[in-house]
Amino acid sequence: MEATAKRLLDWYDANARVLPWRAPPGAPPPDPYRVWLSEVMLQQTTVAAVGPYFAKFLARWPTVKDLAAAEDADVMAAWAGLGYYARARNLLACARAVAARGGTFPDSEAALRELPGLGAYTAAAVAAIAFDRRAIVVDANVERVVARLFAIDEPLPAAKAAIRQRAEQLTPDERPGDFAQAMMDLGSGICTVRGPRCLLCPLSELCTGRREGAERFPVKPAKTAKPQRRGRAFWIEQDGKVWLVKRADKGMLGGMRALPDDSWSARGDGAADPPLPDAWEPHGNVRHSFTHFDLDLQLMLYSGCDWARLAAQQGEWWPVAELDQAGLPTLFAKAARLALAQDREN
Ligand code: ADE
Repeated sequence: MEATAKRLLDWYDANARVLPWRAPPGAPPPDPYRVWLSEVMLQQTTVAAVGPYFAKFLARWPTVKDLAAAEDADVMAAWAGLGYYARARNLLACARAVAARGGTFPDSEAALRELPGLGAYTAAAVAAIAFDRRAIVVDANVERVVARLFAIDEPLPAAKAAIRQRAEQLTPDERPGDFAQAMMDLGSGICTVRGPRCLLCPLSELCTGRREGAERFPVKPAKTAKPQRRGRAFWIEQDGKVWLVKRADKGMLGGMRALPDDSWSARGDGAADPPLPDAWEPHGNVRHSFTHFDLDLQLMLYSGCDWARLAAQQGEWWPVAELDQAGLPTLFAKAARLALAQDREN
């Protein structure tokens, strides 16, 4: 085995993080369902944030067949707050595809890649971690470690090809799953975004970047400002209940329960009419950052009583006292908190 991989695995044997979806170093791989579920949740989301969701999903749907049989709305609501909701829709599509083939995951990277919603990263991670297959697993942590280790000068994203090639050279035939997770642990605990802690690093003597100041890598692309979008959401309350809608399946926050809004997500700046005419008062704003834009959402309170007209629309009255069970995505949960806050703004 290559010297870098050997050192890293020795370090991992003594320092691996204990995580609920993980087998201890050197132990047989965990249930592929756990590995797959954790990897989907961990995309774009921190280990700390994923922990409670992982436990909740496993308690409610202990096997991939259980998840496949779940109602879409229940899974979407259980996912609420984790963000990137397309992941939850893909999760269900994939669980159903696995259930249709008898409930076992395929055990090669190529066959995993055929499942709905499984991208290159997830297929490689599941193949390595759940099936101990040699696969090149490159997430943002691994990218940073490799860029520093080899002082890769090219800025991201162009550097990805060179990073992948180096990762390929490093990946051992033995214990590829532990190797992938060791790289992730090194990236999240030692070779961190905030700065490398080279004195603690098992690879520091082998690290080219360290000689040049490892924090310089990976070289960042020139920054482009995120666009700012504006929109409005509508709070309609009657007899302790609030009017909620289900968002269209396609598009931002698709399939999630939400406050009615003015289509800020579909058209850039919101343009659609309120669900009822007249009698709206502004009630402050909430800000939320999505991957490709920042949103400034103005919350409008309804002070009219045109209930008959509302009843003709798609939606449901939801008890305000049970709003935490509605599975609102974070943007609308923030808006609801604003609506219910004692010290009302604006
Ligand atoms: N991030 C993504 N996958 C991970 C894993 N298996 N362990 C720790 N962090 C991760």
